[in-house]
Amino acid sequence: MRVVFLGPAYPLEMQQFTRGLAEVGAEVYGVGDGAAASLPPLVRKCLSGYLQVPRILDEDDVIERTRVWLRGREIDRVLSAWEPTVILAARMRERWGIPGMSVDTVNGFRDKQLMKERVAAAGIRVPRAERVVRTSRAELGEATRAAAERVGFPLIIKPIAGAGSADTYACRDAAELDEVIAKTAHVRELSVEEYIEGEEFTYDTVCVDGHPVYENVAQYLPKPLEARSEEWISPVIITVRDLDQAKIRAGVALGRQVLGALGMGEGFTHMEWFYTPAGEAVFGEIGCRPGGARLVDQMNYTSDIDLFREWARASCWKSFEAEAARKYNCGIIFKRAKGRGRITGIAGLERFKAQFGPCVVEDELLRPGSPRRDWKATLVSDGYLIVRHANWDVCRQICAAAATDITMFAE
Ligand SMILES: Nc1ncnc2c1ncn2[C@@H]1O[C@H](COP(=O)(O)OP(=O)(O)O)[C@@H](O)[C@H]1O
Ligand SMILES: [Mg+2]
Repeated sequence: MRVVFLGPAYPLEMQQFTRGLAEVGAEVYGVGDGAAASLPPLVRKCLSGYLQVPRILDEDDVIERTRVWLRGREIDRVLSAWEPTVILAARMRERWGIPGMSVDTVNGFRDKQLMKERVAAAGIRVPRAERVVRTSRAELGEATRAAAERVGFPLIIKPIAGAGSADTYACRDAAELDEVIAKTAHVRELSVEEYIEGEEFTYDTVCVDGHPVYENVAQYLPKPLEARSEEWISPVIITVRDLDQAKIRAGVALGRQVLGALGMGEGFTHMEWFYTPAGEAVFGEIGCRPGGARLVDQMNYTSDIDLFREWARASCWKSFEAEAARKYNCGIIFKRAKGRGRITGIAGLERFKAQFGPCVVEDELLRPGSPRRDWKATLVSDGYLIVRHANWDVCRQICAAAATDITMFAE
C-alpha cells in the first residue's frame, strides 16, 4: 500500500496521521513545503520518501512536481487530512486514476454554497442562503443588499471559502449590513445566510464507503462566532459522551443524511449543526477532514482510542478496529492572556489542579516567557487544558471553572 500524504508535518496533528499510516502498514510518501531537514524525527521515521515543494497551495505546480518525483512508482492512495489540500488530493487521484473521492465530490465538502444546495436537494433543512460574487466595488454593496433582502434578517455574512469564523458577521438590520459590507470588501465570494438561533454542535465521523464506522458529537460553548468576537472569552468544546439523547440523536440523524447527500467515501468528516429552540437540528457546514484545534485528541480521550491510526486504517484498508465505547465527556478550554507581549504568569492554576487534578489529561498552557499567540488567527490561543469526566454536568462545571478561575497575564 503506497500512500501519498499531503502535508505530513504541518499542521501539527498531521504528524500523528503520518504515524497512523505507517502503523497500518502503508509506505508513506510525504509532500510538503517544509524543508526535509526540518521534519521532526517521528515523521522522518514514518516516511518512505519526502518531496519538498515551494508552495503546497500552488496545485498545478505540486501536481507536476509530484508526478515527476513519483515516476515509475505505483500509488494506491492520495490522502489529505487538512482542509486547504483536500481538493489537491482529489485532483491528483483523478489525474492518476487512484481510488477515492472525486474533485466534484470533494467540492461538495469545500464550497459552502454548493454543500448547502446538495444537502437541501436531498430534502434536509439548511439555512436559506445565497452566494454573492463581488465583481466591482460599486456592485458589491448592491448585490449583497439584494441577497439580504431575499434571505431576510437576522442573517450571517461569511466567506464561501472561510475558516475559523474569519470575516464572519451576524447582522440584525440594514444599518449593520452596511457596516459589514464595508468590513468584508476584500472577500470575493460571500455567503449571505439566514441566521440560525440555537446551540451549536459538531458531528464527526470516520467513514468507510460513505458509512460512519465512528461517530462523535461535541458542543461549542459558546458558538465559535461568539468565541472569536470577544477576547476575554475562554472558548470551551466538550465531546458528548452520551449520544443517545433526543437532541443529540437529531444531529446524528441529520449528519448521516448529509453524508449520503454529499457522496462521502473514506476518511474523516467534521460537520457543524445547530439545535434550535424549537427542537430542530439544522445543518451548518461540513468538511471531509477532521476538526482542528485538538478535536481528534479529544475524541481519542473520550474513548481511549487512537483515531489517527484508525483513520489511516479506514483510508487504506477500509477497516476500523477501535472499540469506540464512549467513557468520558472530554472538554478543552482555550485560554487568552490579559495584556500584550509575553506571558508573565498564570493565576488559579494550582488551585484548579488541586481540585480537579485527576480529571486533567493535558496542560498545554503557555508558560511565563512565551510570546502570546494571535487569538484571532488560532483557536489554540495561549494554550489549553484538556479535561474529562464521565458525567456531563461535572465535566461542564470543570470546564467552567477552568474558564473563569484561571487567568493568564502578559505584558
Ligand atoms: N447561518 C448561521 N446561523 C448562525 N450562526 C452561524 C451561521 N453560519 C455561521 N454561523 C456562526 O459562524 C461560525 C463560522 O461559520 P462556519 O460556517 O462554521 O464557517 P468556518 O468555520 O469555516 O469559518 C459558526 O461556527 C457559527 O457560530
Ligand atoms: Mg465552522
